[in-house]
Amino acid sequence: MTSPIRTERHGEVLVIISDNPPVNALGAAVRQGLEAAIKEGVADASVEAMVIRCDGRTFFAGADITEFGKPMQEPALPMLVDMIEASDKPVVAAIHGTALGGGCEVALACHYRVAAPSAKLGTPEVKLGLLPGAGGTQRLPRIAGVGLALEMTAKGDPIPARKAADAGLVDKLVGEDSLEADAIAFARGIKAARPIPRASQREVRPDPDAVAAFTKENSRRFRGFDAPAANIACVVKATELPYAEGVQFERAEFMRLMMGVQSAAQRHIFFAERQAAKIDDVPADTQLRPIRHVGVIGAGTMGGGISMNFLSAGIPVTIVEMAQEALDRGAGTIRKNYEATAAKGRMKPEQVEAAMGALIPTLDFDALAECDLIIEAVYESMDVKKEIFTRLDAICKPGAILASNTSYLDIDEIAATTKRPEDVVGMHFFSPANVMKLLEVVRGARTAPDVLATVMDLAKKIRKVAVVAGVTYGFIGNRMLMPRQVEANKLLMEGATPEQIDRVHVAFGMPMGPFQMSDLAGVDIGWHRDPSRIENIRDALAAEGRWGQKKQAGFYDYDEKRQPTPSPRVAEIIEDFRRKSGSTVREISDEEIVERTLYPMVNEGALILEEGKAQRASDVDVVWIYGYGWPVYRGGPMFWAKSEGYDKVVAGLDKHGFKVAQSLRDGTIR
Ligand code: 3HC
Repeated sequence: MTSPIRTERHGEVLVIISDNPPVNALGAAVRQGLEAAIKEGVADASVEAMVIRCDGRTFFAGADITEFGKPMQEPALPMLVDMIEASDKPVVAAIHGTALGGGCEVALACHYRVAAPSAKLGTPEVKLGLLPGAGGTQRLPRIAGVGLALEMTAKGDPIPARKAADAGLVDKLVGEDSLEADAIAFARGIKAARPIPRASQREVRPDPDAVAAFTKENSRRFRGFDAPAANIACVVKATELPYAEGVQFERAEFMRLMMGVQSAAQRHIFFAERQAAKIDDVPADTQLRPIRHVGVIGAGTMGGGISMNFLSAGIPVTIVEMAQEALDRGAGTIRKNYEATAAKGRMKPEQVEAAMGALIPTLDFDALAECDLIIEAVYESMDVKKEIFTRLDAICKPGAILASNTSYLDIDEIAATTKRPEDVVGMHFFSPANVMKLLEVVRGARTAPDVLATVMDLAKKIRKVAVVAGVTYGFIGNRMLMPRQVEANKLLMEGATPEQIDRVHVAFGMPMGPFQMSDLAGVDIGWHRDPSRIENIRDALAAEGRWGQKKQAGFYDYDEKRQPTPSPRVAEIIEDFRRKSGSTVREISDEEIVERTLYPMVNEGALILEEGKAQRASDVDVVWIYGYGWPVYRGGPMFWAKSEGYDKVVAGLDKHGFKVAQSLRDGTIR
């Protein structure tokens, strides 16, 4: 097998080039090639300096994650980077694309770094439940200081080359299209400079105040995760210990995290997210339909949020409403949202104007005739949706994709009202649609492969994570929510409180529990609207106008800042129901809440897979991570069940009398 590493001589400069598509991950062959090339440069008396650069779209994007958990082949990355730094001839990293993780560590071990202005540098290991394990936590603070090192390692977001240059991480920004030539020229300029600057030999002062402030500021973001604290601890060690000892500490922490379930879960999600984009029976090279103009029907919260995704990606949107007032309100909300983003400095005023300039609000339904994709986002009524699709069928150009944002309804029934069911698909966005990353793409019985491929590709362009779901009530996510809600309500009748159930879910790592979620979404959602018909606790709350946060009263009472407190009135209502139904009230343990609200979700996930309504278990995990805030360090419900042990989950379900999915009982979930 040919090595992914080759060398080229440019006079006295040896250029070492990696060509390991797609992202130049530092797998064994790359490490071996780099080791050999550095040795060649050191041994050759005519070489005075070296440049390391990569072919393709990026500098090394990190260690090869697929090698994790397997026996490591020599040379290990920590050894390789130390060898690079120890070279007695200067080594220059020439960075383009993204120098991430181990790739950033290779760059930090080089004596100098030059970068294309569009390049980014980062240590995203924390997002895989890890820390930079090849000296990164020790070299980064020594070069860039404690503050930036904490930001980069514990949060994991990459920084642009300009910021890296300001912090001393990059010595020179060079031409975007002349990286190699400029890096060689730079190497010639420093080839004789002595001493050679080595990051490990620098010192960095302790800064306990900065560490304390950073930890406090980010406590919410880090809640439940093991890796951020380990990253912080390593950076602190860099300020207290000589490099050789600090790096030992880093290594031990890296191995501890690597063996843990959190990192396994986060690595699972990294690959699951990418896998989700692939549809088993739709070839990757399927010809896509061009989407140059999108139509959205409905300018309410959903329609507005959906439109923003396309506007932000530079795709014009025609948005249709029935009344001028609703249209104005919808367009106004979109502008307000953009302006709020701009006020936080995350958008330039001219970008706000560009996005708003691409929005075409209209009352004329026929204006949708020229759109390439039309997304219906009106309220959940099959009759209304059928009427809309019949009208769309009559006016839309051939080949246009007709999508519904329905959360529950049967896409096949909607498609059957048209003469082109192959062009009909579900695009289920999650609220707020401009923020939440999940998109469930609902595949109808007759949806054409190129329609699916186009929508999956478009999802990436609007920065969504798309998962394919089959036609089933509630698709993947909401279908799994149903058994959870049913059990949560039963638990109230048996003696639990909304606070207890929500607390157990939050302690598990969910952003909120089932009742907090009801209050946020609206207790009145799906309510029959007849205050005299009170059949359950939810009906009783809705009848009293306790519609949730919007009314400052739901399962909780809320103050003006929307801070919840337990509600004595709700306790009374629950008590009243318990009495009337004659239920025996008892102490409910937290463990029982987990077994009765979370295990049934896993069970439902298994049924969805058995019925072929999701392609793979990891897709179900992606839905729950990106659509509902399932804690990523638990890897999604299906990964969690596996890591807990299917036997334990089955035993819990059996104990409470649930009908257990066969694949869960057999442990054959895929
Ligand atoms: N190892 C193995 N495979 C990787 C990889 C890595 N570090 N990074 C990306 N890939 C694979 C992806 O799985 C994907 O494979 P597929 O085509 O078969 O699905 C392919 O490369 C392309 O990746 P993306 O679809 O993500 O391409 P993008 O262009 O959207 O993004 C990227 C490129 C920004 C580099 C993104 O892939 C990324 O963030 N990669 C991970 C970076 C990272 O976490 N690095 C740290 C690794 S841990 C480490 O270095 C430990 C060290 O400290 C010891």
